[in-house]
Formats: sequence, structure tokens, C-alpha cells
Amino acid sequence: MDALALLKQQHQEVDVLFERIRQCGEEEKILLLGKISEKLTIHAQIEERHFYPFARRMGIQDMVDHSLQEHAQVKQLIAEILQLKRHDPRIEQNVQKLQSSVQEHVKEEENTLFPRVSSVASTEDLMSVGMEMQRTMEELSQQELLKMAENQGSTVAP
Ligand SMILES: [Fe+2]
Ligand SMILES: [Fe+2]
Repeated sequence: MDALALLKQQHQEVDVLFERIRQCGEEEKILLLGKISEKLTIHAQIEERHFYPFARRMGIQDMVDHSLQEHAQVKQLIAEILQLKRHDPRIEQNVQKLQSSVQEHVKEEENTLFPRVSSVASTEDLMSVGMEMQRTMEELSQQELLKMAENQGSTVAP
């Protein structure tokens, strides 16, 4: 899959999870929150490790710098949410904040950064970056799972 299609697919997946979290019950909310955090963390990693450096090599600096700042904000928000206890009323508020930050960021990537990249990059290059990202993603998912197994029972504060 080419890099842009892969990233868009992940944006879509996270969007679906955010929609679900709006409607689900208390128990599922914690599970979904974990999933959203994991997906966003992995997504940010593969963009930062592969896609943004690729965009820089294509001569796009300003938007990459801006995107990195937004990633830092999103990560900060995730960390804050994960520190809250499960019944904390601030979770709701912070999840909404997270959702709108992510939506804003995704919109900029899809409407501005991706079209700029695709206007200068070859299909071949986009495919090979996509493959690198997929490889990293598989590695990261395994590490995440291991970490979750190790922490089982203590991942969510009572
Ligand atoms: Fe991003
Ligand atoms: Fe993205």
C-alpha cells in the first residue's frame, strides 16, 4: 500500500473509534481509550520515523515542523488522559479535546501536506515508504502487546 493510502486508512480507523467512544458505556470507554492511544502513538511514530523525513527530502519543511508541534500536543494530551483515574469527569472533556486536536491535524495533513507530497513524489517512492511504515508498524504492535501483557491488571487506575 502506498504511504498516503496507509496513513489515510489509519486516520479513518481512529475516527471510527472516536465516534464509538462517544456512544459507549463506561467499561468500553476505557478499552476504547486504550485502543485510541495505541493507534495514535503508533501512527505518530511511523509518520515521524518515515513519512515526515521523506517529506523533508522532498523539500517540504514548514508543514513538517508544524505537524511535529501538533504531534507533541497530541502526545501530551494522551499522557494527561492516561494519568486520570477511570471515573474522573475530566476524561470526557479531555477526550473531546483530543478528538478535535486530532481532527484538525488530520485535516491539515490530508488537505495540504499529502497533496504537496504526492505532487512531487513518485509512485514508487510512496510505495516503498509505505512498506517501511508497515514493517515498523508490525514491530511496534508486537512491542505494545508485550508491554500490555506485562502490565496486565495495572494499566488502568482503579
Ligand atoms: Fe500526523
Ligand atoms: Fe497522520
